[in-house]
Amino acid sequence: MPVPKFGTTKYVFIACLLLAFGSMIAVFILQLGLMRSMISGIQITKEHFTNSLKINGKEKTLRRKPGTKMIMFWTTRGNRKNWFGFSEAVTTLPMSRIAKCSNRDCIFTSNHSRIKEADMVLFYQNENHLSWPPVHYPQQDYGHYIIEAPCWNRGSRYLDQYEGKINLTINFRYDADVYAPYNAIVPVKSVKTYKPGIPHEYKTKMVVWPVSHCLTLSHREDYVTELSRYIDVDIYGACGKRKCRKYNQGYCMKQWEREYMFYISFENCLCEDYITEKTFRPLQYEIIPVVLGGGNYSRDVPPHSVINARDFNSPKDLADFLTHLAADEQRYRSYFKWKTHYRIVGGVPQFLCRLCNALHEDKFPRPLAKTSYADYWLGSNGERCDNNLVPSMKRQQGWKAVEPELNKTI
Ligand SMILES: *[C@@H]1O[C@H](CO)[C@@H](O)[C@H](O)[C@H]1NC(C)=O
Ligand SMILES: *[C@@H]1O[C@H](CO)[C@@H](O)[C@H](O)[C@H]1NC(C)=O
Ligand SMILES: *[C@@H]1O[C@H](CO)[C@@H](O)[C@H](O)[C@H]1NC(C)=O
Repeated sequence: MPVPKFGTTKYVFIACLLLAFGSMIAVFILQLGLMRSMISGIQITKEHFTNSLKINGKEKTLRRKPGTKMIMFWTTRGNRKNWFGFSEAVTTLPMSRIAKCSNRDCIFTSNHSRIKEADMVLFYQNENHLSWPPVHYPQQDYGHYIIEAPCWNRGSRYLDQYEGKINLTINFRYDADVYAPYNAIVPVKSVKTYKPGIPHEYKTKMVVWPVSHCLTLSHREDYVTELSRYIDVDIYGACGKRKCRKYNQGYCMKQWEREYMFYISFENCLCEDYITEKTFRPLQYEIIPVVLGGGNYSRDVPPHSVINARDFNSPKDLADFLTHLAADEQRYRSYFKWKTHYRIVGGVPQFLCRLCNALHEDKFPRPLAKTSYADYWLGSNGERCDNNLVPSMKRQQGWKAVEPELNKTI
């Protein structure tokens, strides 16, 4: 029997069309997955950086488009060679997808054999066993990424090893060459009214304080001890009697937001621009953070979203305010109104985006060209941190001694 020619062509044509359409959908879904995995990186915090920007891909040679900058992770970050969990293969990140930045692209790699090609070489914090690249090529910038406050560095040799070797500062300070905050706030695109979902009467307890460093330079523990004379504070973790059954951040946060009115977000050190996940994590739940830190909260967190201990003359005044607020449901809930207008995003995608852009434009303030690293980071008289607030209140107001529950250091 003769094959009906026209019919076959038609079927082949239809099959091709279907195939083309199918692969378009597949590509779309893949891209969506990629974007989602990037966006899911937005909830990351200091401990959870590793969940960010995970891109699955098989090992293949990096291809480099002309004009693409190469950024190398020289040290590890914890046990990760590729700091943010990119696979070595798919490291050409279309930056425009990560955050709002231009279409300029950067390649990220941790392959030391390619050091000569790198435009920027990154070093993480005080990562142990630091070895320098054999040659610092003159076109290269060495960037040092720090997430800890300068308090922990004082008196240590932390910065000495970087002195004179680093070109660019990358950290949470506004004056850094690359500003890399823990989190950032962005306006919500489609404004929907935010309705708190937890009935006020579920919140039968006052203040929760999850904490693992018991004695700190900021002396926050003294403040909380004094505070707890006037309002109930439940301490969870290493410095208290309570344990969250599953020590899993999400699980515990969900428990706490149902039971408690307020969440203590006191930093362990009061340093310029230093606002950490301690503040940003509870902001993502239905609980009001009570903050104490060296950062500018009116600039860096959403309006009317936190209660700042600095606005009160004493822990007693703060306790009185919290007690009144807890009893006034409408006023309490006004602290969640910002959720209609803003959301919290992770700092890492924005930082990578800024880094890539600045590298393309070669626009860096370069404070290290004029000053030593130690002076930049700590201040020539240590003025980048000021931990006197609590000790001076304590002296002036004659607070009682620290209770035994907190007398434990890690
Ligand atoms: C590292 O780069 C070198 C030089 O381009 C290449 O030969 C090698 O296969 C790379 N290693 C990995 C693990 O990709
Ligand atoms: C970074 O500093 C080193 C000296 O420490 C210098 O050789 C190099 O040219 C600088 N990089 C850039 C891009 O200016
Ligand atoms: C904090 O930020 C706000 C808004 O940007 C600014 O007006 C204010 O001067 C800043 N405060 C301090 C102490 O820097």
